[in-house]
Amino acid sequence: MNAPTVSAQLDVPFYQPVGSECELFEAAWRQQLPVLIKGPTGCGKTRFVAHMAARLGLPLITVSCHDDLTAADLVGRHLIGDGATYWSDGPLTRAVREGGICYLDEVVEARKDTTVVLHPLTDDRRILPIERTGEVLEASPDFMLVVSYNPGYQHVLKTLKPSTRQRFVAMSFDFPQPEVEHAVVVRESGIDAGRAKQLVTLAGQLRRLTGYDLDESVSTRLLVYAAKLMAAGMAPLTACRTALAEPLTDDADTLAALLAVIDTQFAA
Ligand SMILES: Nc1ncnc2c1ncn2[C@@H]1O[C@H](COP(=O)(O)OP(=O)(O)O)[C@@H](O)[C@H]1O
Ligand SMILES: [Mg+2]
Repeated sequence: MNAPTVSAQLDVPFYQPVGSECELFEAAWRQQLPVLIKGPTGCGKTRFVAHMAARLGLPLITVSCHDDLTAADLVGRHLIGDGATYWSDGPLTRAVREGGICYLDEVVEARKDTTVVLHPLTDDRRILPIERTGEVLEASPDFMLVVSYNPGYQHVLKTLKPSTRQRFVAMSFDFPQPEVEHAVVVRESGIDAGRAKQLVTLAGQLRRLTGYDLDESVSTRLLVYAAKLMAAGMAPLTACRTALAEPLTDDADTLAALLAVIDTQFAA
C-alpha cells in the first residue's frame, strides 16, 4: 500500500478550529480511513472539508446528495454521442481513479443503492467495482471518502445503516463555543469585535429558546449573514430579523418570540 502524498496549497479557505478536528482529519487521511461528519446545518462541515482538502493539497469533488441520487449518478453511466455509446465516469469514480477527496454531503438523502457502492471502498479493499463495464477499480492512494449528514432533522427512516456507518471514523460537529464563533463572525463579515460579540450573545439566547416550533436554531452561517448585512450598512435590528428570525420559522408565535429576544439585545 502506497502512503498518500501531501502537498500544501496556498489558497486555503478560512476555517477556525473548534478542537482537534484538523489533526484528526489529517490522521484519518494518512491512514486512508473514510470520515463521517455529523452536525446541524450551518455549523461549518462543508467549510471544514474544503479547508482540509486545500491544506492537504487534494482535489475536492463534492456531491450534494438528494433523494433521486442513484449509484449510477456517483459511479457513471454509458452515454450516447456520435452514434456510439461511451462510458462517462461519475464523480465518485473520478476521485477513485485520480485521487482526491470525494465528499458526499447529506449522504442519508441518497437512495439506498448508493451505499452498496460505498462498502467495498470503505474497507481495506478500497475497490470500486463498476458493474456496467465489468471494471474493478483500485482506489488511488490519494483517494479519501468523506460523508456528512445532519442527524437533527432526518426522518427515523433516513439514517445510515449500522453496517455502513461502522465503516467510517465519525466526528460530531456542533455550533462552536462563543470565542470561536466570535472569531468566525469577525473574519467572515468584517464587522467590529463589539458588534460581533453582541451577535454571538444573541445567538446563545436564541438557541436557548425552548417550547417553540423550531426544527433548528440559529446557525453560524445565519450569524455570518446577519453580520454581513450589518457590514453593508443595515441597522442591526433589521439585519437580525432578516437573517436570524425569518429564515427559521413561518409560525407567527415562534417568530414573535424570536423577534422579542432580538429586540432586547439590539434595542438602541
Ligand atoms: N469553524 C468555522 N470556521 C470558519 N467559518 C465557519 C466555521 N463554522 C461556520 N463557518 C461559517 O458558516 C458558514 C456555513 O458553514 P458550512 O460549512 O457551509 O456549514 P454546514 O456544511 O455545516 O451546513 C460558512 O460559510 C462560514 O462562513
Ligand atoms: Mg454543508
